[in-house]
Amino acid sequence: MDNPIISIQNLNLYFGKQHVLRNINIEIPKNKVTVILGPSGCGKTSLLKTLNRLNDLHDDVKINGKVFLDNEDILNTTADITRIRKKMGLLSQKPSPLPMNIFNNVAYGLRINGIRRKKKLRPLVEKHLIEANLWDEVKDRLKDPASRLSIGQQQRLCLARGLAVNPEIILADEPTSALDPISSTVIEKQFIELKKHYTIILVTHVLRQARRIADHIVFMYMGEVIEQGSAKEFFQNPQQEKTKSYLKGAFN
Ligand SMILES: Nc1ncnc2c1ncn2[C@@H]1O[C@H](COP(=O)(O)OP(=O)(O)OP(=O)(O)O)[C@@H](O)[C@H]1O
Ligand SMILES: [Mg+2]
Repeated sequence: MDNPIISIQNLNLYFGKQHVLRNINIEIPKNKVTVILGPSGCGKTSLLKTLNRLNDLHDDVKINGKVFLDNEDILNTTADITRIRKKMGLLSQKPSPLPMNIFNNVAYGLRINGIRRKKKLRPLVEKHLIEANLWDEVKDRLKDPASRLSIGQQQRLCLARGLAVNPEIILADEPTSALDPISSTVIEKQFIELKKHYTIILVTHVLRQARRIADHIVFMYMGEVIEQGSAKEFFQNPQQEKTKSYLKGAFN
């Protein structure tokens, strides 16, 4: 692959004695949607958390290997971890708006980046709410608590907050699993729009969703990468037996 934005090399992750990621090698293309597929428990969330250095928070974890982002090995860097996390926004399965109003939820992301003056905050909050496709629904109620939004709106608010941090990469762990089909489609469309400016890595269980939005696929099974490549090749011409069974629905 020419100039992958992320290159994962010989990555292993253990929780205690459990070998959760097994010698993983993955390349992630820039400005594309990469979808990570695989049955429950195969290590998808653990992989996303490793990229964001969130597994560091667990006691009993051992990680080895290399993860290059912009030619810097983020696992073996002396650099500030906060700086690495700022490059990658993580959107989780369950929206987690902060206990403050809609405006301040997005402004929070901007403040992390040192933008504090109201005059500067206001247009940027609007910009990121537009990017997350939420502006029209909230522009007249920016002072309302975020908790009053529907779950689908909360998820888009969290997306807006993540974008406000100005990341290069958006990590999304089953971002639509709590949403109805219409809200899911809204978010999916937004990812397709956002890839012009961001690299997106998305975990999903929904094969139809992967078919709709993926440019690139990584298929995992029990901690290993079984197959990866262009979405078109993956769906039309899978190479591995496990992939073929998975696509037939054998593991779901
Ligand atoms: N903090 C942790 N401590 C110990 N084991 C963990 C921890 N987090 C995950 N695991 C284990 O690592 C394995 C992979 O879990 P992970 O959450 O990455 O799977 P997943 O592919 O995201 O599954 P799902 O599709 O159900 O979300 C599982 O066996 C899980 O029990
Ligand atoms: Mg998971």
